Amino acid sequence: MTHTPEAPGSEGSDTPNLDFAGTTPYEDYVQADVLTHLQHPLSDDPGEMVFLVTTQVMELWFTVIVHEWETAAGALRQDDIPVALDALRRSTRELEALNASWKPLANLTPAQFNSYRSALGDGSGFQSAMYRRLEFLLGDKSASMLVPHRGAPRVHAELEKALHEPSVYDEVLRLLARRGLPVPREVLERDLSTKYEPSPEVEAVWTQVYTQGDHHSELVVLGEALTDVGELVWRWRNDHLVATRRAMGSKVGTGGSAGVAWLEKRARKNVFPELWTARSHV
Ligand code: HEM
Repeated sequence: MTHTPEAPGSEGSDTPNLDFAGTTPYEDYVQADVLTHLQHPLSDDPGEMVFLVTTQVMELWFTVIVHEWETAAGALRQDDIPVALDALRRSTRELEALNASWKPLANLTPAQFNSYRSALGDGSGFQSAMYRRLEFLLGDKSASMLVPHRGAPRVHAELEKALHEPSVYDEVLRLLARRGLPVPREVLERDLSTKYEPSPEVEAVWTQVYTQGDHHSELVVLGEALTDVGELVWRWRNDHLVATRRAMGSKVGTGGSAGVAWLEKRARKNVFPELWTARSHV
């Protein structure tokens, strides 16, 4: 897959295959032809292409990360911490790659962004269904986030299913309870379709885990893997916020929000809240 074939006529036994009856096996696997023909800029501005492709690249990373977190949630349900940790750790590398993809958009000036902004109409990343699934897996559930997707049956069905499934954090708390830690019943039996709200008792559980690290070494490792995830999601939100502030100041968003002021509120949210607050008590 990685070699460039030599010029026709110079092929030896050590050169890659050139003859395929149909499309190449690479194409059959990667569907590169499909993937590289999904770019349809809406303006003539040469700077729009990288905006569009960066957005598509981020959608692909969201897809991989959702896959990892679904794997992690399933493994936790089966008390398989090693498999969950592998998936969470893969996701932190992927989150780092996702966050690095802000680079080409991080320094847009308002004039550059204006060159294609109006062509975007009322399209906005706010309407990203895969980002919403990612937030749902973190415990940040909201039924109203399904509303924009009413017209897209497959997407809507996937989101609806994700809304009612336990998040990664719900699975972690259930596992802590199975390990004998005093996670309150109302947390374990909470309405999964609503946003997870921090609980003082869960904070006390994490405090106990971290304070008695020798007894709970596997859970400390799990707690730290989740904290890495939380930190990197927070970084994505903040990088997005800063890029937006640079590109459009305090104008309203194409999706109809107050723009930067709204994103500031979103970026203040803590992922896996008690894993952060418990640290004050250890
Ligand atoms: C510099 C370029 C960008 C600007 C100026 C920008 C601006 C905004 C604004 C103002 C919002 C708030 C909703 C609205 O009113 O539209 C928003 C939301 C959002 N944007 Fe961007 N954005 C940029 C790039 C991106 C990229 C590349 C992605 C990748 C998919 C993205 C994903 C999102 C997501 C997921 C939300 C919803 C966040 C949430 O629900 O908390 N944005 N963006």
